[in-house]
Amino acid sequence: MATTRDIPVGAESSSIAFRVNGNEVTTTGSARRLSRVLREDLGLTGTKVGCDAGDCGACTVLLDGDPVCACLVAAGQVAGCEITTVEGLAALPTGFRLQKAFLAHGAAQCGACTPGMLVAATALIERNTSPTEGEVMDALGGVLCRCTGYRKIISAVLDAAATPEEKKLSGTIQAASTNGAVGRRLVRLDGQKKVDGSEIFGADEMPAGALTVRVIRCPYHRARFQFGDLNAFVRERAGIVSVLTAKDVPGKDCYGVIPLFADQRVFAHREARHRGEAVAAIVGETPVVEAIDPATFPVVWEELPALKEIDEALAADAPRIHHEREDNVLVRGRVVRGDVERALAEAAITAEGDYETGFVEHAYIEPEAGFARRVGDGVEIQACTQSPYMDRADMATILGIAPEKVRIIPTAVGGGFGSKLDLSVQTFLALAAWHTGRPVRMVYSRTESIVSTTKRHPARMRVRAGCSRDGKLVAMDFAADFNTGAYSSWGPTVAARVPVHASGPYYVPHYRALTRAVHTNLVPAGAFRGFGVPQAAIAQEQLYDELADRVGMDRLEFRILNALDDDTPTVTGQVMGEGVGIRACFEALRPKWHDARERAAEFNSRSNGMFRRGVGVAGMWYGCGNTSLPNPSTIRIGLKRDGRIALHQGAVDIGQGSNTIVTQICADALGAPIECFDLISGDTAITPDCGKTSASRQTLVTGKAAHMAGTQLRAAVLALTTGCECGRLIFGDGRVSVEENGNRHTITLSEMPLDQYGYVITAEATFDPPTSPLDENGQGSPYAVYGYGAHMAEIEVDVELGTVRVLKVTAAHDVGRAINPTLIEGQIEGGVAQGLGMALMEEFFPGKGENLHDYLIPSAGDIPPVESILIEDPSPIGPFGAKGIGEQAVIPTAPAILNALHDAVGIRLRKIPATPDRVRAAILAKQKGELRG
Ligand code: FES
Ligand code: FES
Repeated sequence: MATTRDIPVGAESSSIAFRVNGNEVTTTGSARRLSRVLREDLGLTGTKVGCDAGDCGACTVLLDGDPVCACLVAAGQVAGCEITTVEGLAALPTGFRLQKAFLAHGAAQCGACTPGMLVAATALIERNTSPTEGEVMDALGGVLCRCTGYRKIISAVLDAAATPEEKKLSGTIQAASTNGAVGRRLVRLDGQKKVDGSEIFGADEMPAGALTVRVIRCPYHRARFQFGDLNAFVRERAGIVSVLTAKDVPGKDCYGVIPLFADQRVFAHREARHRGEAVAAIVGETPVVEAIDPATFPVVWEELPALKEIDEALAADAPRIHHEREDNVLVRGRVVRGDVERALAEAAITAEGDYETGFVEHAYIEPEAGFARRVGDGVEIQACTQSPYMDRADMATILGIAPEKVRIIPTAVGGGFGSKLDLSVQTFLALAAWHTGRPVRMVYSRTESIVSTTKRHPARMRVRAGCSRDGKLVAMDFAADFNTGAYSSWGPTVAARVPVHASGPYYVPHYRALTRAVHTNLVPAGAFRGFGVPQAAIAQEQLYDELADRVGMDRLEFRILNALDDDTPTVTGQVMGEGVGIRACFEALRPKWHDARERAAEFNSRSNGMFRRGVGVAGMWYGCGNTSLPNPSTIRIGLKRDGRIALHQGAVDIGQGSNTIVTQICADALGAPIECFDLISGDTAITPDCGKTSASRQTLVTGKAAHMAGTQLRAAVLALTTGCECGRLIFGDGRVSVEENGNRHTITLSEMPLDQYGYVITAEATFDPPTSPLDENGQGSPYAVYGYGAHMAEIEVDVELGTVRVLKVTAAHDVGRAINPTLIEGQIEGGVAQGLGMALMEEFFPGKGENLHDYLIPSAGDIPPVESILIEDPSPIGPFGAKGIGEQAVIPTAPAILNALHDAVGIRLRKIPATPDRVRAAILAKQKGELRG
């Protein structure tokens, strides 16, 4: 991408004239970033800022037709130039076609990367009207996407470039239909805003007169600190309004996502427990606050010895990070069934191994951001979040006011994957608005986002397993410690969920899984797609391959032999009875497995040894929703006088598609076309609580509530009219009609009285999936529904360099009922991309590489074709039989790739990710061993 032009000397204060989307504009400040000029001066917030450093490509615009990172271009460099942003694409035939193709292909999920992708793709097609797939991948290589796995974006670009004849050959995307919504590939209802740049993310709202909040954070892993004269700091700087510290918290200064384990403070008191922990916040006019050098802030640090490793924290003489938590253990998890020691001792075949994984950064493209304002004796917070009602409860506690006095208005969320379940900007914004009485805004820098927000838990796992001579699993013994960092966050959930899942989706009669979440002085680990299960699967699925090899069985057949059935008990003793689709997933892979293995064998037989190919498989299961805890969602729908239907759905759509899926379900339950719905999304003042968007629960739980509410409203409408359940409902034009046997009964709604919600009829329903508490051995029914899946990875290893190229992933998932296959495929492809990153490249080291330049996530060129196979073994509980898919999709990819690595070159990596240096070292060690042996 072009990035630089000379700035005329002395041009800083002169007017700069250029054109944006065909309009003449002027600005001043030649050294200012073009991205800021576009967003803040011109209000063109479709251009997103993900890093401000040229690493993510979210800010891509066209400069005289060439794609550039607007964050790297100074305003002075564009004098006399033509800039095109996402807002201007619809006026260009190519841009318009791309926007339509992105919608049709489901290429926008959260939408944070979408403007940059569309602009980069426009530049490509403008100069190359029929690009190859490789050329598309190259053109998009500078724009990162964390949600989609790129495949649907690539397809959309190829589709937009195709001639009408080529389109006919390649088939068309399924359009909306009046014949029911469930099962159809409908375009996401919130998609248009994502492709035209009008979607509002946390940083996009800039209230007039808003102050800016900037947090001072601890630069050490552990440090004592003392403030200097904060009053003088404020007094001596015009434009600084306030400095906030722990003493400014009016309510209870203790919060956390799991109330029983709440241990976080808005600002540290005297000692910071991890690098990046907040100690104070400066509030003031934006230019003044931004210009402050943090080194001039009056705080004196005393660095203290820090516990960074699990063993250091567990040592008998280690200081306690939280005095009430003995041995620095936050919580233990346990599931025990049968007699694992005896069964392992008697097992014909056994295998064992140690496995280790590191921190993984969520790396969503949208850093945390939002604004707040004080409204009388309450506060409104508009910010990116996955959990508005949880935010509301914690903010009420912190402010010492009633929850109803706190209004949370979620913005669009530019990727969350679990980390935006925890509070971030909300605490600082609310306190600043509360004390200053003025609107305040805050946008985390990329580095601030990385140093201070939660990560995937590093895991250290030891596994033993045994089977009979004919390959039947008899026992598994699993022990894992998770580095949960300085605060609890979702550590208890990880510790509780992993023992339930560490067996994988297999029948294991004798089982023991013990886990600990261990505090260290590192950034808190929290929720990240899968809550620890992806780490456990890396250990368990690799070990099962070893067992299969020792038995002498085909690795896929070993899994099929041991797969759970409807009637076999899980490791918690739960018998699902129906809807256990894991065997079907493996069986769907069977023909492809044999073909892929033949292809790899043939390649290897022809190879000169420099490159080796391998094929790996792995299975997974994942319980939807909270583990043995209440988990309700409430949906309200109202029939309006104009004949339309208002759907109040509080599930935050973080890109996965709940706005669309929940509406599809509700529409079919009611018997109304989806076009009749007006969607009212998450806002604690106007939508009921749909819980948090996590744990693959929204399709199941909120979807079920939507099904129930839709059914209720249908019954109420029919009761008003014919009373017959089979009538066809027709909504619109101020009327509702029921058609039955050729007769039509119509009610005019415009004169009907309104209820307390302002609707002619309101239906509200709550669903809480039935679970039971686990006993002291972890026995019980922790989840009402599980999702199942199996991935097969085909890879190629460069033996000399140690690099691994994934050639293809085939992903079979039992989703119960595919409510919207396009959105489900999007979740699978995005999960595969994150699993690939986890397997091969992603590891975060606190204090190092806190940016998207050093912390690498997969780009378009890293992602292979992904073939999704959707299995529909209906859940008796889910709406229309549906199960979750969000977390499920990421779990089997990494172990499948690691198993393929062993298949290709015979190495078993114990420490993940399999970076080239580790792969090469393992290959060399193996070769040396072979020479010696
Ligand atoms: S914001 Fe410009 S490249 Fe990331
Ligand atoms: S859709 Fe690409 S980052 Fe979310």
